[in-house]
Amino acid sequence: MDLFRTKTIGADVHGDTGLHRTLGAGDLILLGIGAIIGAGVFVLTGVAAATQAGPALVLSFVLAGLACVFAGLSYAELAAAVGGCGSAYGYAYATLGEIVAWIIGWALMLEYGMAVSAVAVGWSGYFNNALTAGGIDLPDALLAAPNAGGVVNLPAMAIILLLGALLAIGVKNSARFNAAIVFIKLTAITIFIVIALGNVEPDNWRPFMPFGWQGIVNGAALIFFAYIGFDAVSTAAEEARHPQRDMPIGIIASLAICTIVYMIVAALLTGIAPYPTLNTPSPVSEALLNLGYQWGAAVVAAGAIAGLTSVMLVMYYGQTRVLFAMSRDGLLPERFATVNPRTRTPTFVIILTGIITATVAGFAPIGAIAQLVNIGTLFAFVIVCVGVIVLRRKRPDLHRPFRVPFSPVVPLLGVAFCLYLMISLPAVTWFYFLLWMAFGLIIYGGYSARSSRRAGLSAP
Ligand code: ALA
Repeated sequence: MDLFRTKTIGADVHGDTGLHRTLGAGDLILLGIGAIIGAGVFVLTGVAAATQAGPALVLSFVLAGLACVFAGLSYAELAAAVGGCGSAYGYAYATLGEIVAWIIGWALMLEYGMAVSAVAVGWSGYFNNALTAGGIDLPDALLAAPNAGGVVNLPAMAIILLLGALLAIGVKNSARFNAAIVFIKLTAITIFIVIALGNVEPDNWRPFMPFGWQGIVNGAALIFFAYIGFDAVSTAAEEARHPQRDMPIGIIASLAICTIVYMIVAALLTGIAPYPTLNTPSPVSEALLNLGYQWGAAVVAAGAIAGLTSVMLVMYYGQTRVLFAMSRDGLLPERFATVNPRTRTPTFVIILTGIITATVAGFAPIGAIAQLVNIGTLFAFVIVCVGVIVLRRKRPDLHRPFRVPFSPVVPLLGVAFCLYLMISLPAVTWFYFLLWMAFGLIIYGGYSARSSRRAGLSAP
């Protein structure tokens, strides 16, 4: 996938970009699963079960999954109708105007950038597991952020910088590579499921809702993270053979498959281990280890390491792409869209993103970062759902190859579910989110509104 050859958003949205249209519905589903299954299920299930929902985590997954399905249907309508370089920023630019596009792009930076950091922290947990199994013990101080019991999370920083270097020299997450990673991830999860099925202790499911309904909702607001990434499917619109038919299939099918996988993993994980013991950096493999399945734990850890690496790569791409698109539209300095002539990659943006996300990964705990990612993403989803309703009014004539069923009920349900999850996030998450958005509006007012292509066009 050549992410950096995209057309101008909101202009000729159905024009030919010269990209090869090679992806079918199956590839898009795999792309979605490749971007979705990661630290959410391999790491956050543990902390969410132990501290938020208990065994009722399985219901948290249903709740978060429903929010994503409603939002996903809205994404699918916009992806098929607006097309273009995809993702919420592009849809907003084409349908709701520049300021809304800016707000959503700014929120997406939080989604993609901080997701890289959060997944890197998860990656570090499983990587350390593998090192320990191989007889190498890193000092605890170098394995966790200050308020997670360490000084700095060095492996998390290292993997981000390594991926940044790979992206800068032009390594691409090809569809074939992605399919291989998805296979490894799903194999690891299948092995977990098979082992766990024979080791469930129904007593572990009692009490089922130790933290009540609020615990389930709070758990959903945290493990919503596990679903993030399905929007990545929409960014491949230009390389899909039949985007209008296959985008909705790719988005909805990958979400449905992941929801089922997550519910099974959550039910079994809380069935094979008492939920209070799950608050560890690598809960899925540790639960198998505690049952005496060393080989099973090793396979799961290997699957997690491979899976999390590919999720980081997709999110890192996503981040550079959003910055690239916003810069190309004049909302960010031109520098962000500069492509290095030798590597043909936007090295400036890649390095900048790497430094910021690696710093966050080194010094912040995974739960706090994930919640920040979630609030930014949920906010973007709300705007996408509203965008569907607004566009139906403003452009009833627009050809919509895929229509959200029962509109405006489904988009409104998307808004309601996403807002419900947003208000269930902690006050500190809201604080940082509002700070981030306020900062964004200042930059928009002080720079972007004046330098945007649109402003340039209307100038005398
Ligand atoms: N959904 C992705 C993950 O869980 C971000 O890692």
